[in-house]
Amino acid sequence: MSFVGVLTGGGDCPGLNAAIRAIVRGSVSRGYEVVGILHGWQGLVEGETLPLDRRAVAGILPRGGTILGTSSYDPFREESGVAAILETSRKLGLDGVVAIGGEGTLGVAHRLHAEHGYPVVGVPKTIDNDLGGTDVTIGFDTAVHVCTEALDRLHTTAESHNRVMVVEVMGRNTGWIAAAAGIAGGADVILVPEVPSTIEDVCDHVRHRHDDGKDFSIVVVAEGYQLTRRSGEQEGPVVQEVDEYGYARLGGIGRVVADEIERLTGFETRVTVLGHVQRGGTPTARDRFLATRLGLRAAELAAAGAWGRMAAVRGNEISDCSLEEATLRRRSVPPGWIEASRVVA
Ligand code: F6P
Repeated sequence: MSFVGVLTGGGDCPGLNAAIRAIVRGSVSRGYEVVGILHGWQGLVEGETLPLDRRAVAGILPRGGTILGTSSYDPFREESGVAAILETSRKLGLDGVVAIGGEGTLGVAHRLHAEHGYPVVGVPKTIDNDLGGTDVTIGFDTAVHVCTEALDRLHTTAESHNRVMVVEVMGRNTGWIAAAAGIAGGADVILVPEVPSTIEDVCDHVRHRHDDGKDFSIVVVAEGYQLTRRSGEQEGPVVQEVDEYGYARLGGIGRVVADEIERLTGFETRVTVLGHVQRGGTPTARDRFLATRLGLRAAELAAAGAWGRMAAVRGNEISDCSLEEATLRRRSVPPGWIEASRVVA
């Protein structure tokens, strides 16, 4: 009998519970015992656990959030954090851990494995979709779906009032949500950190639309976008604060962009910040399906003792990659996506 721990770390997202369910059932079906670790890596310092069997995960497939709780706790930033994790894991009798996370949580997993031989496999989740080694992460599809629906709604009111609507979406330092939802929602302008579109070009485009008889425009801006001028000058991204784990909390660039559009064009411009609505609620069918497939692969990797690996998506197939590949480089939006959005806008 082997004993596996499962944890969720970093920002929550829809699909985490579907992944937990698959990991538990995939492990139990092999005769393994599973325990949930509460509040991310923090739970392995304190030894806070929740027994998980087939029944404990019944009914959680469609539920947003995570039944295990989460935190961005990083043991490498604490004096004796790593030692505590190693000791607690030994005391609990864990044979290995499945960590469901984004770059922070899986960065910790990678270091624990590389520097201490810690037995861990990863599952990629983040609405930001910016992890390396996988084509897509759990939570992204739901976030895009929520933003697309919001864009559809904003279109009708923008049109009625002849307004420019600036919609700020999450994504941290990449523009995956902005690009995908912007294309799906027919945005007129998409601003992402990867492509330094200038504010003057944005205003020219909005003016052309007005000259063409379209008196409203939808501008989607990723929270990590830097306001760029034709002179080359850049402002932003807007950082609200740096949290206790050292992560910059972004937000506010939508207001800056809207003020500039109104100042330069004279058109009435409003801002909507979608915020955590993008991370809450029930996962889409695609996210449930993805989380289930990735969770089952993670259970398989753990059973095989393939520590240091992460379940991943390549094309339509589930495969795996090293935790190093997953966390080494942030994956950015291909510039072709923004080109495509300009063609169809
Ligand atoms: O990484 C997911 C994410 O939602 C980012 O898109 C966003 O910048 C950040 O988390 C917000 O974090 P918090 O929930 O801590 O405010």
